[in-house]
Amino acid sequence: MDGHLLIQNATLVLPDRVVEGDLRVSGGTISTIAPGGGLSPVSQEDVIDATGLHLLPGAIDPHVHFREPGHTDREDLESGSRAAAAGGVTSFLDMPNNSPNATNRATLERKIALAGKKSVTHHGFFIGATKDNIGDLQSVEGMDGVCGIKIFMGSSTGDLLVHEQEHLEDIFANTGGIIATHAEDEERLQRRTAEFRHRTDIASHAECRDVECAFLATKRAVSLAKDHDHRLHIVHLTSGVEADWLHRNKGDLVTTEVCTQHLTFDQDDVERLGERALMNPPIRYTEDRDSLWRRLKDGTIDCIVTDHAPHTLEAKSVGFPNSPAGMPGVETSLPMMLTHAKNGKCSVSDVVRWMCEGPARVYGIQNKGSLIEGNDGDLTIVDLESERTITDSDTWTRVGWTPYDGMELTGWPRYTIVDGEVVHKRDVDGSLRGTPVALPGSAGRALRFG
Ligand code: DOR
Ligand code: ZN
Repeated sequence: MDGHLLIQNATLVLPDRVVEGDLRVSGGTISTIAPGGGLSPVSQEDVIDATGLHLLPGAIDPHVHFREPGHTDREDLESGSRAAAAGGVTSFLDMPNNSPNATNRATLERKIALAGKKSVTHHGFFIGATKDNIGDLQSVEGMDGVCGIKIFMGSSTGDLLVHEQEHLEDIFANTGGIIATHAEDEERLQRRTAEFRHRTDIASHAECRDVECAFLATKRAVSLAKDHDHRLHIVHLTSGVEADWLHRNKGDLVTTEVCTQHLTFDQDDVERLGERALMNPPIRYTEDRDSLWRRLKDGTIDCIVTDHAPHTLEAKSVGFPNSPAGMPGVETSLPMMLTHAKNGKCSVSDVVRWMCEGPARVYGIQNKGSLIEGNDGDLTIVDLESERTITDSDTWTRVGWTPYDGMELTGWPRYTIVDGEVVHKRDVDGSLRGTPVALPGSAGRALRFG
């Protein structure tokens, strides 16, 4: 029956320990957690035998770029949410650089309504800031399904951009909720883009959009937050310099995130992968990657995200510097991080802290992110015993590729569960893509924040 599920014999990744046991979801909510097991099925309850598998809270990816409206040939709310579900992600927060941009209440309402019809996971949406939409930003404050304000302080994909001090002050002074900033300094970016025009080697991307570009904007955003007593979340941190500075200066108002790909790749991978690894801010250097890990472990960095940015390989193939920036990742992030755990970089509990609890805490998403009685029945059951090689053709994203093509990863979700309903399944010896179970719009709700 709907939302009634008993999972037996799992390795439960609880907030304070990892233990064998059973977990029951009743009416969509985690009703009983039984370390040691012993729960027996009741009538009308679906049963999953999770022997040999780990049961985790569903992951929350608070930074994706599904392309609806505007470029649904690359991703829409259905294909994106299916990719999320395939990757153990039960909630996503989607960015506003669409066509048209999501910069007013009407576009947000439309996205939320579309997600209600198409998504198979929970969902939330950012409103994009412009130079002159304060009224629009205010009009969605506290609205269900709206997670915060996104400011592109430096140009990236699309034309959303606010970099003049007076406009930034205006936004920080006159809005509530959480502001998420893409922190790269536009003036420096423009200057350096002109200076680097003659460079066509991919390594020049990180040289051009350098650490100083990011650091300038990060410091500026933090001082705006402090001046105006405003919650700030700095998206996709990429450099050791920023991470070290935030360690000393972030205080209570500021949180930050890191992308799986910035924890995984360095300059050598950029050389190897070419345009596939092109993104903004760039993949940087081994020492940055090491610092990001260090600052994640010491709690400076609050959560892990994907910045899932579906561009086609065809568009990428025009070659640097004209290729679009960004890479898909919502369906591969959890296995990639669990592979890091298996390789000894961190523990499975760390991954849960960074991919489930962290995003819920940053965005104030109630009743999600931890296996606690009373929380929502958003779960993923992953297989840490087997390893499987991911290739482009195994993906659900409409653009059909992954930067991790050819990598052997563990931790593939066998079941992804939203409010106690299985939305995606993967058999141990079946295809790596697995099987979608839920119909579009049949699972997942607009999230509430705050
Ligand atoms: O690489 C990126 N791609 N960085 C962004 O900030 C935007 C994203 C996209 O939407 O393609
Ligand atoms: Zn992004």
